[in-house]
Amino acid sequence: MKEFYLDYAATTPIDERVLEYIRPFLESKFENPSSMHIHAIENKKAINLARKKVADALNALPEEVFFTSGGTESINWAIKGYAAKNRNKKEIITTKIEHKATLNTLHYLETQGYKVTYLDVDAYGLIDLKQLDQAINENTLMVSIIYSNNEIGTIQDVRSISKICRKHQTKLHLDAVQAFAQIEIDLHELDVDFLTISSHKFYGPKGAGALYVKKGLDLEPLIHGGSHESKHRAGTENLYGVVGMGEAARIAKAELEKNRAHYQMLQIDFHQKMMDTFEDVRLNGTTCGSNRSYNNLSYSFKYVLGHELHFQLNKLGVYVSTGSACSAHSIEPSHVIMAIGLEEDYQPCVIRISFGKYSKLKDNDEIIKLFKEAYDEVRD
Ligand SMILES: Cc1ncc(COP(=O)(O)O)c(C=O)c1O
Repeated sequence: MKEFYLDYAATTPIDERVLEYIRPFLESKFENPSSMHIHAIENKKAINLARKKVADALNALPEEVFFTSGGTESINWAIKGYAAKNRNKKEIITTKIEHKATLNTLHYLETQGYKVTYLDVDAYGLIDLKQLDQAINENTLMVSIIYSNNEIGTIQDVRSISKICRKHQTKLHLDAVQAFAQIEIDLHELDVDFLTISSHKFYGPKGAGALYVKKGLDLEPLIHGGSHESKHRAGTENLYGVVGMGEAARIAKAELEKNRAHYQMLQIDFHQKMMDTFEDVRLNGTTCGSNRSYNNLSYSFKYVLGHELHFQLNKLGVYVSTGSACSAHSIEPSHVIMAIGLEEDYQPCVIRISFGKYSKLKDNDEIIKLFKEAYDEVRD
């Protein structure tokens, strides 16, 4: 059976070039980068080269890049670490469509006495900039916003968000896990204080991520111990993860335009075919070509259940994600689907398709055919 992987927003396979780059570190270059002998120092240099590559990809300074275990840790650290250094401010602003890494970090801080404002989004998943402007006050510690939404692909107007935060002198953290390698991020131009990225979303190894911390700002470490990452994140470095992430970031930056054109072509073609094939289908999030991630298509179908369609597609070798969780008694749409106010009839079936650089345009016809087959099988 032919298989079609359409879940690149969940994770990406490692790029062959990244794999080759990491290989010596897996095979023989094992020395602890904190040791002082010659090969250990070479490994330390490899980490610092990775830091430079990530910094270059963001147009930031190497000393502004800290390595972590991934997006979840970076988000936790940006928020909790800044809160711990600035205990006089107890209010945080975010949106209703954040990733769980942000939402559950903030739910935890609520138990510690913080007040969190969850900004509404419109039917496309966009926040209201006026609401943000009005929500910031002198007790606001920071604003944390998801740049490109992982479920519905909505891209926020981060330039305007940044201007509003600057006007109020409030710190801004961007969860750019889905945005990096899709959108050009120039931190010299885009004024943000903290920014999170995750290696496994851009063809690097899993278990590696980074947090950009603007020069001059300080965070309380999340993990205490040795003096790794300039005393900001203790623990022996994930050497292959970090060097692989650096190489993946370099490639992502160099091939951003090429990949974007590829995703755009896949997205337009697939969406057109989807609309021609199904009557009762809705695109969740912004329209293609306007503030929408190029590799994301989130659809809702009437008359079918998401987990059933997902299961059927799985049987046919089409691997996607579903945006609703089913428990024994009910089907619960995700917080994102609830926040955009999707009509009730469409809520039980949300399917996310996400393309990647190994997706092929010529496969779209066959995938749509399999979609129709799966849909017909599970339709009431
Ligand atoms: C938008 C967003 N933020 C954060 C994360 C968490 O990243 P990680 O898997 O590296 O912990 C993800 C992962 O799916 C994500 O899509």
